[in-house]
Amino acid sequence: MVSKTFVGLVTAGVIALGLSSAAMADAKAAIEARQACMKANGGMMKVMVPIIKGQKAYDKAAIDASIAHAQKACGGWADWWGADTMPGTPAGTAAKTEAKAEIWSDSAGFAAAGKAYVTAEAAVLASTDEASFKAAFPALGKACGACHEKFRQSEN
Ligand code: HEC
Repeated sequence: MVSKTFVGLVTAGVIALGLSSAAMADAKAAIEARQACMKANGGMMKVMVPIIKGQKAYDKAAIDASIAHAQKACGGWADWWGADTMPGTPAGTAAKTEAKAEIWSDSAGFAAAGKAYVTAEAAVLASTDEASFKAAFPALGKACGACHEKFRQSEN
C-alpha cells in the first residue's frame, strides 16, 4: 500500500510547482504524440531510402501509404509545442524529450522548418514516377536534417 503521507508529499510538490497533474499529463501526451509523428516520419524514410539507393524497386503505392501514415500521425502538430513541453520545465520532464529550447526561442525558424518539410512531403506525394520521385526526395531528406540540426537534441 502506498502511504498517504508519500502521496501527500508528491501532490504538495506538484502544487508547489504550480502544476496540476492534468497539466503534467497534457504535456506528456503532447510530447508522446510528436514523437509518434516523428516515428512515422522515420517509417516513411525506411520505405523511401532503399528505393533511392536502388535496393528496392520503385513502388508508388508504398511511398504514398508511408506519407499518408506520417500525415495522419502528424495531424495534431500545432498542439504539441506548448511552453510546458520545453526541455527542463517541470511539465516538460513528464516525458523525455529531445526537443531543443530553440523551438521556443526561434519560433519563426521552427515554423519555417516545418513548412519546408510539409512542402517537400507534398512534392514527393505529387511525384508520379521513379524519375520525379527521385527528383523530389532530396528536398524532403534535407528538410528533416535541417530541422533536427537546429531544433532536436539527440540523446547520445
Ligand atoms: C520542424 C522540425 C522537424 C522536422 C521537419 C522533422 N523533425 Fe524529426 N524531430 C524533431 C524534433 C523537435 C524531435 C524531438 C521530439 C521530442 O523528443 O519531443 C524529432 C525527433 C525525431 C525522431 C525520434 C523520435 C523518437 O522519439 O523516437 C525521429 C526518428 C525523427 N525525428 C525523424 C524525422 C524524419 C525522418 C523527418 C523528415 C521526414 C523529420 N523527423 C522531420 C523535429 C523535426
